[in-house]
Amino acid sequence: MAYKNILVEKKDGIGVIKINRPKVLNALNQETIKEITKAVLELEKDAKIKVGVITGEGKAFIAGADISAMVNMTTLQAKEFAEHGHNMLNTIEKSRLPFIAAVNGYALGGGCETLMACDIVIAGKSALLGQPEINLGISPGFGGTQRLPRLVGRMKAKELLLTGRNVSAEDAQSIGLVNMVVDDEKLIEETMKIAGKIAGKSSVQNCFIKELVNKGVDLDLNTANALEISYFSSSFSTQDQKEGMKAFLEKRKPDFKGK
Ligand code: CAA
Repeated sequence: MAYKNILVEKKDGIGVIKINRPKVLNALNQETIKEITKAVLELEKDAKIKVGVITGEGKAFIAGADISAMVNMTTLQAKEFAEHGHNMLNTIEKSRLPFIAAVNGYALGGGCETLMACDIVIAGKSALLGQPEINLGISPGFGGTQRLPRLVGRMKAKELLLTGRNVSAEDAQSIGLVNMVVDDEKLIEETMKIAGKIAGKSSVQNCFIKELVNKGVDLDLNTANALEISYFSSSFSTQDQKEGMKAFLEKRKPDFKGK
């Protein structure tokens, strides 16, 4: 399907969603949020796609929710807007596809919230991340107050949320907000390498592992471990388990079919 604010490209099992509003540093308005949500669902439905990548055109990943679109919102309009934002990020988080955020520059407010809903975050050296909402007289609306403390701990999250200060890619890596920092010009190449590696694994297990980690962190350990046992045992009814173990014993590379 054709989109106005994003570009979607599919290659070698990898679906790339590129936010394409560089004039406003890829700020998220309602229309862009709806398009990203649709694109994630479209990639998910395509059996050939194994991994998703989200990145931005130009010098920003996403500089936040669109301030021009928000300035005159009423309380109820803001509620609806935040619900759409949450729906987009929940769609990414609950997708069967692992999503990699390739962070090419500013990832502020809704941008930082977007990368936190992804499964792996790779940032270019010059990227800047943060939750500057407090400087606008608002609190974050797309999960910043909830996903950030779960990722970096309560103390660090409160410091960043209350000061609204941005952090460099390297500092973000040191607090666990970024997995890897690479040279800006190598960002897409390195991201595609990692996406390619994941695309070669079992899609069933990509989905299981993502679900187990995401669900498990919000459960008590006994319930979470019971969930692991049930996913582990159901892995044994997949073709990929037979293929993976047979390939190991035959000393060859497995050919996973995602079944
Ligand atoms: N919304 C709307 N427009 C934005 C924007 C945003 N979040 N961020 C940047 N822009 C626009 C600017 O208004 C500017 O437009 P004009 O050319 O028409 O003036 C254009 O993008 C380029 O931006 P700058 O000239 O400001 O670029 P810069 O390089 O000097 O500064 C920046 C870059 C530091 C990222 C600065 O643009 C900035 O601070 N942006 C806002 C960041 C922010 O506060 N994000 C949080 C938004 S609220 C939110 O996200 C709530 C939530 O949780 C859902």
